[in-house]
Amino acid sequence: MMGWTQIVLGGLVIIASISSLFRFYSAGFFMRNEDICYHFYGLKNIDMGFDLQALSDRVGEVLNKMESLQDKLEGVVQQMEKDKGDLSRSNISKLEYKRFLEDEVIKPLYEAHISLRLIRLPKPEGLRNTTMKEEPLINTFVVEEIRKYITPKDNRLGKVNIYGTDRIYNTIGHVCVLLKKELEEYMDYDIGSFCKDDWNVAQKLMINGCDPLPRRRCLARASKLYQKPYPINESLWKLPDGRNVRWAKYQCRNFECLSSKNPKRGYSKCTGCFEMEKERLKWVGNLSLPIDFRVTDVLAIKPGEIRIGLDYGVGTGSFAARMREQNVTIISTALNLGAPFNEMIALRGLLPLYVTLNQRLPFFDNTMDLIHTTGFLDGWIDLQLMDFILFDWDRILRPGGLLWVDRFFCNRKDLDDYMYMFLQFRYKKHKWAIAPKSKDEVFLSALLEKPPRSL
Ligand SMILES: *[C@@H]1O[C@H](CO)[C@@H](O)[C@H](O)[C@H]1NC(C)=O
Ligand SMILES: *[C@@H]1O[C@H](CO)[C@@H](O)[C@H](O)[C@H]1NC(C)=O
Ligand SMILES: *[C@@H]1O[C@H](CO)[C@@H](O)[C@H](O)[C@H]1NC(C)=O
Ligand SMILES: *[C@@H]1O[C@H](CO)[C@@H](O)[C@H](O)[C@H]1NC(C)=O
Ligand SMILES: *[C@@H]1O[C@H](CO)[C@@H](O)[C@H](O)[C@H]1NC(C)=O
Repeated sequence: MMGWTQIVLGGLVIIASISSLFRFYSAGFFMRNEDICYHFYGLKNIDMGFDLQALSDRVGEVLNKMESLQDKLEGVVQQMEKDKGDLSRSNISKLEYKRFLEDEVIKPLYEAHISLRLIRLPKPEGLRNTTMKEEPLINTFVVEEIRKYITPKDNRLGKVNIYGTDRIYNTIGHVCVLLKKELEEYMDYDIGSFCKDDWNVAQKLMINGCDPLPRRRCLARASKLYQKPYPINESLWKLPDGRNVRWAKYQCRNFECLSSKNPKRGYSKCTGCFEMEKERLKWVGNLSLPIDFRVTDVLAIKPGEIRIGLDYGVGTGSFAARMREQNVTIISTALNLGAPFNEMIALRGLLPLYVTLNQRLPFFDNTMDLIHTTGFLDGWIDLQLMDFILFDWDRILRPGGLLWVDRFFCNRKDLDDYMYMFLQFRYKKHKWAIAPKSKDEVFLSALLEKPPRSL
Protein backbone atom coordinates (compact mmCIF):
# COMPACT_ATOMS: atom_id res chain seq x y z
CA MET A 1 0.00 0.00 0.00
CA MET A 2 2.77 2.43 1.05
CA GLY A 3 4.75 1.53 -2.02
CA TRP A 4 1.95 2.40 -4.35
CA THR A 5 1.26 5.62 -2.53
CA GLN A 6 4.88 6.47 -3.07
CA ILE A 7 4.63 5.72 -6.73
CA VAL A 8 1.53 7.83 -7.11
CA LEU A 9 3.19 10.63 -5.19
CA GLY A 10 6.27 10.22 -7.32
CA GLY A 11 4.19 10.52 -10.43
CA LEU A 12 2.67 13.70 -9.05
CA VAL A 13 6.13 15.08 -8.39
CA ILE A 14 7.14 14.42 -11.96
CA ILE A 15 4.01 16.07 -13.24
CA ALA A 16 4.56 19.01 -10.93
CA SER A 17 8.14 19.35 -12.03
CA ILE A 18 7.26 19.23 -15.69
CA SER A 19 4.47 21.72 -15.24
CA SER A 20 6.78 24.01 -13.32
CA LEU A 21 9.36 23.68 -16.07
CA PHE A 22 6.64 24.80 -18.38
CA ARG A 23 5.80 27.70 -16.12
CA PHE A 24 9.40 28.82 -15.97
CA TYR A 25 9.48 28.56 -19.68
CA SER A 26 6.44 30.71 -20.11
CA ALA A 27 7.77 33.15 -17.51
CA GLY A 28 10.69 33.75 -19.78
CA PHE A 29 13.36 31.97 -17.79
CA PHE A 30 14.74 30.19 -20.79
CA MET A 31 15.26 33.36 -22.72
CA ARG A 32 18.65 34.92 -22.95
CA ASN A 33 19.61 37.32 -20.21
CA GLU A 34 18.83 40.41 -22.20
CA ASP A 35 15.46 38.97 -23.07
CA ILE A 36 14.56 38.44 -19.46
CA CYS A 37 14.57 42.10 -18.72
CA TYR A 38 12.59 42.89 -21.83
CA HIS A 39 10.14 40.39 -20.57
CA PHE A 40 9.88 41.79 -17.08
CA TYR A 41 9.66 45.37 -18.10
CA GLY A 42 8.42 45.30 -21.61
CA LEU A 43 11.00 47.97 -22.25
CA LYS A 44 14.69 48.21 -22.36
CA ASN A 45 15.47 50.82 -19.78
CA ILE A 46 16.56 49.32 -16.52
CA ASP A 47 16.26 51.44 -13.49
CA MET A 48 18.73 51.72 -10.72
CA GLY A 49 17.78 49.66 -7.75
CA PHE A 50 18.00 46.36 -9.57
CA ASP A 51 21.10 44.22 -9.97
CA LEU A 52 20.50 42.51 -13.30
CA GLN A 53 23.84 40.73 -13.44
CA ALA A 54 23.37 39.10 -10.06
CA LEU A 55 19.85 38.04 -10.95
CA SER A 56 20.81 36.47 -14.23
CA ASP A 57 23.71 34.61 -12.62
CA ARG A 58 21.34 33.06 -10.12
CA VAL A 59 18.73 32.22 -12.74
CA GLY A 60 21.47 30.60 -14.81
CA GLU A 61 22.42 28.31 -11.96
CA VAL A 62 18.85 27.14 -11.49
CA LEU A 63 18.39 26.65 -15.20
CA ASN A 64 21.37 24.32 -15.26
CA LYS A 65 19.94 22.32 -12.40
CA MET A 66 16.55 22.04 -14.08
CA GLU A 67 18.11 21.10 -17.37
CA SER A 68 20.11 18.23 -15.94
CA LEU A 69 17.06 17.03 -14.05
CA GLN A 70 15.02 17.06 -17.20
CA ASP A 71 17.70 15.12 -19.06
CA LYS A 72 17.78 12.55 -16.33
CA LEU A 73 14.01 12.12 -16.25
CA GLU A 74 13.85 11.81 -20.00
CA GLY A 75 16.57 9.17 -19.90
CA VAL A 76 14.64 7.21 -17.33
CA VAL A 77 11.41 7.43 -19.31
CA GLN A 78 13.19 6.10 -22.37
CA GLN A 79 14.62 3.27 -20.30
CA MET A 80 11.13 2.46 -19.03
CA GLU A 81 9.82 2.38 -22.58
CA LYS A 82 12.47 -0.18 -23.42
CA ASP A 83 11.73 -2.66 -20.65
CA LYS A 84 8.02 -2.11 -20.39
CA GLY A 85 7.25 -5.80 -20.26
CA ASP A 86 9.51 -6.53 -17.30
CA LEU A 87 8.10 -3.70 -15.27
CA SER A 88 4.62 -5.16 -15.09
CA ARG A 89 5.87 -8.56 -14.04
CA SER A 90 8.26 -7.79 -11.19
CA ASN A 91 7.82 -5.62 -8.15
CA ILE A 92 11.51 -4.92 -7.47
CA SER A 93 10.85 -1.49 -8.80
CA LYS A 94 8.81 -0.29 -5.83
CA LEU A 95 11.69 0.28 -3.44
CA GLU A 96 14.03 1.21 -6.19
CA TYR A 97 11.52 3.53 -7.65
CA LYS A 98 11.08 5.19 -4.28
CA ARG A 99 14.79 5.65 -3.87
CA PHE A 100 15.06 6.91 -7.40
CA LEU A 101 12.34 9.45 -6.82
CA GLU A 102 13.87 10.60 -3.58
CA ASP A 103 17.47 10.86 -4.68
CA GLU A 104 17.19 11.70 -8.32
CA VAL A 105 14.00 13.72 -8.53
CA ILE A 106 12.76 15.15 -5.26
CA LYS A 107 16.15 16.24 -3.96
CA PRO A 108 17.38 18.09 -7.06
CA LEU A 109 13.93 19.53 -7.54
CA TYR A 110 13.91 20.74 -3.97
CA GLU A 111 17.31 22.33 -4.39
CA ALA A 112 16.28 24.07 -7.57
CA HIS A 113 13.08 25.14 -5.91
CA ILE A 114 15.00 26.64 -2.99
CA SER A 115 17.43 28.40 -5.29
CA LEU A 116 14.53 29.84 -7.21
CA ARG A 117 12.83 30.96 -4.07
CA LEU A 118 16.05 32.65 -3.03
CA ILE A 119 16.08 34.75 -6.15
CA ARG A 120 14.45 38.06 -5.55
CA LEU A 121 12.73 39.16 -8.69
CA PRO A 122 12.65 42.86 -9.30
CA LYS A 123 9.40 44.60 -8.63
CA PRO A 124 8.77 47.09 -11.42
CA GLU A 125 6.70 49.33 -9.14
CA GLY A 126 9.42 49.30 -6.47
CA LEU A 127 9.57 47.73 -3.07
CA ARG A 128 7.12 49.10 -0.55
CA ASN A 129 6.82 52.63 -1.91
CA THR A 130 10.55 52.93 -2.57
CA THR A 131 12.36 53.17 -5.87
CA MET A 132 14.41 50.07 -5.08
CA LYS A 133 13.42 47.22 -7.36
CA GLU A 134 14.74 44.46 -5.14
CA GLU A 135 15.98 43.99 -1.61
CA PRO A 136 19.41 45.63 -1.46
CA LEU A 137 22.30 43.22 -2.12
CA ILE A 138 20.06 40.19 -2.11
CA ASN A 139 21.15 38.86 -5.47
CA THR A 140 24.75 39.96 -5.01
CA PHE A 141 25.69 37.09 -2.76
CA VAL A 142 25.69 33.46 -3.83
CA VAL A 143 26.31 31.79 -0.49
CA GLU A 144 22.87 30.90 0.76
CA GLU A 145 23.62 31.73 4.36
CA ILE A 146 24.42 35.37 3.59
CA ARG A 147 21.31 35.66 1.47
CA LYS A 148 19.20 34.19 4.23
CA TYR A 149 20.78 36.61 6.65
CA ILE A 150 20.17 39.79 4.70
CA THR A 151 16.69 38.88 3.56
CA PRO A 152 14.27 40.93 5.63
CA LYS A 153 12.26 38.71 7.96
CA ASP A 154 8.59 39.53 7.83
CA ASN A 155 6.76 39.12 11.11
CA ARG A 156 4.61 36.06 11.30
CA LEU A 157 0.98 36.40 10.29
CA GLY A 158 1.64 39.89 8.95
CA LYS A 159 1.57 41.36 12.43
CA VAL A 160 3.37 44.47 13.57
CA ASN A 161 6.08 43.68 16.11
CA ILE A 162 6.95 45.38 19.37
CA TYR A 163 9.08 47.86 17.47
CA GLY A 164 6.14 48.85 15.35
CA THR A 165 7.64 47.47 12.15
CA ASP A 166 6.34 44.66 10.00
CA ARG A 167 9.74 43.14 9.28
CA ILE A 168 13.28 42.95 10.64
CA TYR A 169 16.30 43.73 8.54
CA ASN A 170 19.62 42.17 9.44
CA THR A 171 22.25 44.63 8.36
CA ILE A 172 25.77 44.28 7.04
CA GLY A 173 28.36 46.94 6.33
CA HIS A 174 28.31 48.19 2.76
CA VAL A 175 31.97 47.30 2.25
CA CYS A 176 30.94 43.65 2.59
CA VAL A 177 30.05 43.97 -1.09
CA LEU A 178 33.65 44.78 -1.96
CA LEU A 179 34.90 41.99 0.29
CA LYS A 180 32.43 39.52 -1.20
CA LYS A 181 34.91 36.70 -1.67
CA GLU A 182 36.25 36.91 1.86
CA LEU A 183 32.78 37.26 3.31
CA GLU A 184 31.46 34.27 1.39
CA GLU A 185 34.33 32.20 2.66
CA TYR A 186 33.57 33.39 6.15
CA MET A 187 29.89 32.47 5.79
CA ASP A 188 30.57 29.04 4.34
CA TYR A 189 29.89 26.59 7.17
CA ASP A 190 27.46 23.88 8.17
CA ILE A 191 24.62 25.25 10.25
CA GLY A 192 24.92 24.06 13.83
CA SER A 193 28.44 22.72 13.51
CA PHE A 194 31.62 24.25 14.89
CA CYS A 195 32.83 27.38 13.17
CA LYS A 196 36.28 27.50 11.69
CA ASP A 197 38.87 29.04 13.98
CA ASP A 198 38.63 32.32 12.14
CA TRP A 199 37.95 35.18 14.52
CA ASN A 200 40.91 36.92 12.93
CA VAL A 201 39.21 36.76 9.52
CA ALA A 202 36.11 38.25 11.11
CA GLN A 203 38.09 41.05 12.70
CA LYS A 204 39.87 41.78 9.43
CA LEU A 205 36.55 42.02 7.64
CA MET A 206 35.22 44.36 10.31
CA ILE A 207 38.25 46.60 10.39
CA ASN A 208 38.16 46.87 6.63
CA GLY A 209 34.58 48.07 6.68
CA CYS A 210 32.44 44.93 6.47
CA ASP A 211 30.94 46.05 9.72
CA PRO A 212 28.42 45.03 10.95
CA LEU A 213 29.44 41.56 10.02
CA PRO A 214 26.62 39.06 9.48
CA ARG A 215 25.75 36.78 12.35
CA ARG A 216 26.64 33.14 11.89
CA ARG A 217 24.78 29.97 12.82
CA CYS A 218 27.79 27.92 13.83
CA LEU A 219 29.34 27.39 17.23
CA ALA A 220 32.30 29.59 18.12
CA ARG A 221 35.31 27.72 19.34
CA ALA A 222 36.56 28.19 22.87
CA SER A 223 39.82 27.38 24.57
CA LYS A 224 40.39 23.71 25.36
CA LEU A 225 40.39 23.96 29.13
CA TYR A 226 38.32 26.95 30.10
CA GLN A 227 38.90 27.66 33.79
CA LYS A 228 36.47 29.63 35.86
CA PRO A 229 37.64 33.25 36.11
CA TYR A 230 39.13 34.63 39.30
CA PRO A 231 36.63 36.16 41.75
CA ILE A 232 36.13 39.89 41.31
CA ASN A 233 38.00 40.82 44.50
CA GLU A 234 41.11 39.27 42.89
CA SER A 235 40.63 39.58 39.16
CA LEU A 236 40.95 43.34 38.65
CA TRP A 237 44.73 43.61 38.91
CA LYS A 238 45.85 40.07 38.26
CA LEU A 239 47.03 38.54 35.00
CA PRO A 240 44.27 36.08 34.03
CA ASP A 241 44.66 32.37 33.52
CA GLY A 242 46.06 31.89 30.02
CA ARG A 243 44.11 28.69 29.51
CA ASN A 244 40.99 30.79 29.04
CA VAL A 245 42.20 32.16 25.72
CA ARG A 246 42.68 30.64 22.29
CA TRP A 247 46.24 31.61 21.46
CA ALA A 248 46.60 30.09 18.01
CA LYS A 249 46.46 33.37 16.13
CA TYR A 250 48.90 35.33 18.31
CA GLN A 251 52.65 35.46 18.54
CA CYS A 252 52.49 35.04 22.30
CA ARG A 253 50.98 31.89 23.81
CA ASN A 254 50.32 33.17 27.33
CA PHE A 255 49.84 36.35 29.32
CA GLU A 256 53.31 36.16 30.80
CA CYS A 257 54.74 36.50 27.30
CA LEU A 258 52.51 39.52 26.63
CA SER A 259 53.66 41.21 29.81
CA SER A 260 57.35 40.56 29.19
CA LYS A 261 59.83 42.77 27.40
CA ASN A 262 59.92 40.34 24.48
CA PRO A 263 60.10 42.45 21.29
CA LYS A 264 58.04 39.85 19.44
CA ARG A 265 54.95 40.16 21.58
CA GLY A 266 52.84 40.82 18.53
CA TYR A 267 51.23 44.09 19.55
CA SER A 268 52.60 47.60 19.39
CA LYS A 269 49.87 49.80 20.85
CA CYS A 270 49.69 50.29 24.60
CA THR A 271 53.15 48.96 25.31
CA GLY A 272 53.29 47.66 28.83
CA CYS A 273 49.57 47.44 29.33
CA PHE A 274 49.79 43.76 30.27
CA GLU A 275 52.24 44.63 33.07
CA MET A 276 49.85 44.80 35.97
CA GLU A 277 52.32 46.31 38.41
CA LYS A 278 52.79 49.30 36.09
CA GLU A 279 49.12 49.55 35.27
CA ARG A 280 48.32 49.77 38.97
CA LEU A 281 50.20 53.07 39.14
CA LYS A 282 48.15 54.84 36.50
CA TRP A 283 45.79 57.66 37.46
CA VAL A 284 46.66 57.42 41.20
CA GLY A 285 49.35 58.51 43.59
CA ASN A 286 51.99 61.11 42.84
CA LEU A 287 51.87 61.65 39.12
CA SER A 288 54.94 63.16 37.59
CA LEU A 289 53.54 64.85 34.49
CA PRO A 290 50.91 67.60 34.33
CA ILE A 291 49.20 65.71 31.51
CA ASP A 292 48.33 62.87 33.88
CA PHE A 293 45.24 63.46 35.96
CA ARG A 294 44.29 61.51 39.05
CA VAL A 295 40.99 59.62 39.00
CA THR A 296 40.04 61.02 42.39
CA ASP A 297 40.68 64.60 41.22
CA VAL A 298 38.53 64.08 38.18
CA LEU A 299 35.70 62.52 40.12
CA ALA A 300 35.92 65.30 42.71
CA ILE A 301 34.82 67.78 40.04
CA LYS A 302 31.41 66.12 40.00
CA PRO A 303 31.12 64.33 43.33
CA GLY A 304 28.78 61.36 43.10
CA GLU A 305 27.63 62.28 39.61
CA ILE A 306 29.97 60.15 37.55
CA ARG A 307 28.56 56.62 37.56
CA ILE A 308 28.78 55.24 34.03
CA GLY A 309 31.09 55.85 31.13
CA LEU A 310 33.01 54.70 28.15
CA ASP A 311 36.75 54.20 27.76
CA TYR A 312 37.53 54.59 24.08
CA GLY A 313 40.96 53.37 23.21
CA VAL A 314 43.35 50.47 23.19
CA GLY A 315 44.13 48.80 26.47
CA THR A 316 43.56 46.03 28.90
CA GLY A 317 40.82 47.71 30.91
CA SER A 318 42.96 49.25 33.64
CA PHE A 319 41.04 52.51 33.48
CA ALA A 320 37.80 50.60 34.00
CA ALA A 321 39.37 48.66 36.87
CA ARG A 322 40.49 51.88 38.49
CA MET A 323 37.03 53.37 38.07
CA ARG A 324 35.37 50.25 39.38
CA GLU A 325 37.22 50.76 42.63
CA GLN A 326 35.46 54.13 42.73
CA ASN A 327 32.13 52.44 42.03
CA VAL A 328 32.02 53.80 38.47
CA THR A 329 31.05 51.39 35.70
CA ILE A 330 33.13 51.78 32.55
CA ILE A 331 32.80 49.97 29.24
CA SER A 332 36.13 49.60 27.46
CA THR A 333 36.34 49.39 23.69
CA ALA A 334 38.71 46.71 22.50
CA LEU A 335 39.92 45.05 19.34
CA ASN A 336 42.15 42.03 19.41
CA LEU A 337 45.04 43.67 17.59
CA GLY A 338 47.88 41.23 18.10
CA ALA A 339 46.81 40.29 21.61
CA PRO A 340 43.61 39.03 23.26
CA PHE A 341 42.51 42.41 24.60
CA ASN A 342 38.82 41.50 24.77
CA GLU A 343 39.44 38.32 26.74
CA MET A 344 41.87 40.11 29.02
CA ILE A 345 39.35 42.82 29.91
CA ALA A 346 36.55 40.30 30.41
CA LEU A 347 38.71 38.00 32.53
CA ARG A 348 39.54 40.95 34.75
CA GLY A 349 35.82 41.19 35.42
CA LEU A 350 35.30 44.29 33.26
CA LEU A 351 33.20 44.99 30.20
CA PRO A 352 34.86 44.88 26.78
CA LEU A 353 32.99 46.41 23.85
CA TYR A 354 34.12 44.91 20.57
CA VAL A 355 33.76 47.84 18.17
CA THR A 356 35.78 49.31 15.37
CA LEU A 357 36.16 52.97 14.52
CA ASN A 358 33.67 52.48 11.70
CA GLN A 359 30.49 52.52 13.65
CA ARG A 360 28.22 54.90 15.43
CA LEU A 361 28.41 54.00 19.09
CA PRO A 362 25.56 51.79 20.32
CA PHE A 363 24.50 54.19 23.07
CA PHE A 364 21.64 56.61 23.15
CA ASP A 365 21.98 60.40 23.14
CA ASN A 366 22.83 62.13 26.42
CA THR A 367 23.39 58.97 28.44
CA MET A 368 27.06 58.75 29.46
CA ASP A 369 28.53 60.54 32.47
CA LEU A 370 32.09 60.17 31.23
CA ILE A 371 34.08 59.44 28.11
CA HIS A 372 37.75 58.73 28.60
CA THR A 373 40.02 58.28 25.61
CA THR A 374 43.63 57.33 25.44
CA GLY A 375 46.11 55.56 23.29
CA PHE A 376 44.74 55.50 19.82
CA LEU A 377 43.19 58.75 18.70
CA ASP A 378 46.40 60.36 17.69
CA GLY A 379 48.20 62.04 14.85
CA TRP A 380 47.36 59.43 12.18
CA ILE A 381 43.67 60.04 12.14
CA ASP A 382 41.91 61.84 9.32
CA LEU A 383 40.43 65.08 10.57
CA GLN A 384 37.02 64.50 9.06
CA LEU A 385 36.82 61.00 10.52
CA MET A 386 37.80 62.44 13.85
CA ASP A 387 35.13 65.07 13.53
CA PHE A 388 32.45 62.43 13.03
CA ILE A 389 33.77 60.51 16.03
CA LEU A 390 33.85 63.57 18.27
CA PHE A 391 30.32 64.53 17.33
CA ASP A 392 29.25 60.98 18.16
CA TRP A 393 30.89 61.27 21.57
CA ASP A 394 29.19 64.58 22.09
CA ARG A 395 25.90 62.92 21.24
CA ILE A 396 26.19 60.18 23.85
CA LEU A 397 27.68 62.39 26.58
CA ARG A 398 25.04 63.83 28.87
CA PRO A 399 24.93 67.52 29.71
CA GLY A 400 27.35 67.96 32.60
CA GLY A 401 29.20 64.83 31.50
CA LEU A 402 32.99 64.83 31.26
CA LEU A 403 35.20 64.23 28.26
CA TRP A 404 38.65 63.18 29.44
CA VAL A 405 41.19 63.33 26.66
CA ASP A 406 44.15 61.48 28.12
CA ARG A 407 47.60 61.79 26.54
CA PHE A 408 46.38 62.50 23.06
CA PHE A 409 49.48 63.03 21.00
CA CYS A 410 50.27 64.45 17.61
CA ASN A 411 52.86 66.31 15.69
CA ARG A 412 53.54 69.73 17.16
CA LYS A 413 52.56 71.46 13.93
CA ASP A 414 49.17 69.70 13.89
CA LEU A 415 48.34 70.68 17.45
CA ASP A 416 46.28 73.72 16.46
CA ASP A 417 44.05 71.65 14.20
CA TYR A 418 43.39 69.09 16.89
CA MET A 419 42.90 71.71 19.57
CA TYR A 420 40.29 73.29 17.39
CA MET A 421 38.58 69.91 17.05
CA PHE A 422 38.30 69.47 20.80
CA LEU A 423 37.37 73.06 21.52
CA GLN A 424 34.72 73.46 18.83
CA PHE A 425 32.05 72.07 21.15
CA ARG A 426 32.60 74.92 23.65
CA TYR A 427 32.86 72.57 26.59
CA LYS A 428 33.84 73.97 29.95
CA LYS A 429 37.59 73.49 30.47
CA HIS A 430 38.37 71.92 33.84
CA LYS A 431 41.88 70.82 33.00
CA TRP A 432 44.06 71.45 29.98
CA ALA A 433 47.71 70.45 29.75
CA ILE A 434 50.25 70.16 26.99
CA ALA A 435 53.64 68.51 27.38
CA PRO A 436 56.36 67.57 24.92
CA LYS A 437 56.51 63.91 23.93
CA SER A 438 59.54 64.05 21.72
CA LYS A 439 61.28 66.72 19.68
CA ASP A 440 58.42 66.98 17.20
CA GLU A 441 55.52 65.51 19.12
CA VAL A 442 53.38 66.79 21.93
CA PHE A 443 50.91 65.33 24.41
CA LEU A 444 47.59 66.97 25.09
CA SER A 445 45.38 66.09 28.02
CA ALA A 446 42.11 67.77 28.75
CA LEU A 447 39.12 67.45 31.00
CA LEU A 448 36.09 69.07 29.43
CA GLU A 449 32.48 69.30 30.52
CA LYS A 450 29.58 69.21 28.13
CA PRO A 451 27.34 72.25 28.70
CA PRO A 452 23.57 72.06 29.01
CA ARG A 453 21.70 72.13 25.71
CA SER A 454 18.26 73.29 26.58
CA LEU A 455 16.83 74.11 23.20
C1 LIG B 1 6.99 -8.79 -4.66
O1 LIG B 1 6.41 -8.32 -3.47
C2 LIG B 1 5.96 -9.36 -2.60
C3 LIG B 1 5.26 -8.68 -1.39
O2 LIG B 1 5.46 -7.34 -1.35
C4 LIG B 1 7.15 -10.18 -2.15
O3 LIG B 1 6.69 -11.24 -1.33
C5 LIG B 1 7.86 -10.74 -3.39
O4 LIG B 1 9.01 -11.47 -3.01
C6 LIG B 1 8.22 -9.64 -4.33
N1 LIG B 1 8.78 -10.19 -5.55
C7 LIG B 1 10.00 -9.87 -6.01
C8 LIG B 1 10.37 -10.51 -7.29
O5 LIG B 1 10.73 -9.12 -5.40
C1 LIG C 1 2.71 53.20 0.65
O1 LIG C 1 1.75 53.67 -0.24
C2 LIG C 1 0.43 53.41 0.18
C3 LIG C 1 -0.51 53.83 -0.92
O2 LIG C 1 0.13 54.60 -1.88
C4 LIG C 1 0.16 54.16 1.47
O3 LIG C 1 -1.14 53.89 1.94
C5 LIG C 1 1.15 53.70 2.50
O4 LIG C 1 1.00 54.44 3.71
C6 LIG C 1 2.57 53.87 2.01
N1 LIG C 1 3.48 53.29 2.97
C7 LIG C 1 4.59 53.89 3.34
C8 LIG C 1 5.43 53.12 4.31
O5 LIG C 1 4.91 54.99 2.94
C1 LIG D 1 37.82 37.18 47.78
O1 LIG D 1 36.56 36.84 48.31
C2 LIG D 1 36.49 35.49 48.73
C3 LIG D 1 35.09 35.22 49.23
O2 LIG D 1 34.19 36.20 48.88
C4 LIG D 1 37.52 35.22 49.82
O3 LIG D 1 37.46 33.86 50.21
C5 LIG D 1 38.89 35.56 49.32
O4 LIG D 1 39.84 35.43 50.34
C6 LIG D 1 38.92 36.99 48.80
N1 LIG D 1 40.20 37.22 48.21
C7 LIG D 1 40.91 38.32 48.47
C8 LIG D 1 42.24 38.45 47.81
O5 LIG D 1 40.49 39.17 49.22
C1 LIG E 1 53.66 61.67 47.20
O1 LIG E 1 54.55 62.71 47.42
C2 LIG E 1 54.57 63.20 48.75
C3 LIG E 1 55.48 64.39 48.85
O2 LIG E 1 56.05 64.70 47.64
C4 LIG E 1 55.01 62.08 49.66
O3 LIG E 1 54.98 62.51 51.00
C5 LIG E 1 54.11 60.89 49.50
O4 LIG E 1 54.53 59.79 50.25
C6 LIG E 1 54.02 60.47 48.04
N1 LIG E 1 53.04 59.43 47.90
C7 LIG E 1 53.23 58.36 47.16
C8 LIG E 1 52.08 57.39 47.10
O5 LIG E 1 54.25 58.17 46.55
C1 LIG F 1 31.83 51.73 46.73
O1 LIG F 1 30.66 51.09 47.17
C2 LIG F 1 30.85 50.30 48.33
C3 LIG F 1 29.54 49.62 48.65
O2 LIG F 1 28.48 50.47 48.52
C4 LIG F 1 31.32 51.18 49.49
O3 LIG F 1 31.54 50.38 50.62
C5 LIG F 1 32.60 51.87 49.08
O4 LIG F 1 33.02 52.78 50.07
C6 LIG F 1 32.42 52.63 47.77
N1 LIG F 1 33.71 53.14 47.31
C7 LIG F 1 33.90 54.40 46.98
C8 LIG F 1 35.28 54.77 46.56
O5 LIG F 1 33.00 55.20 46.97
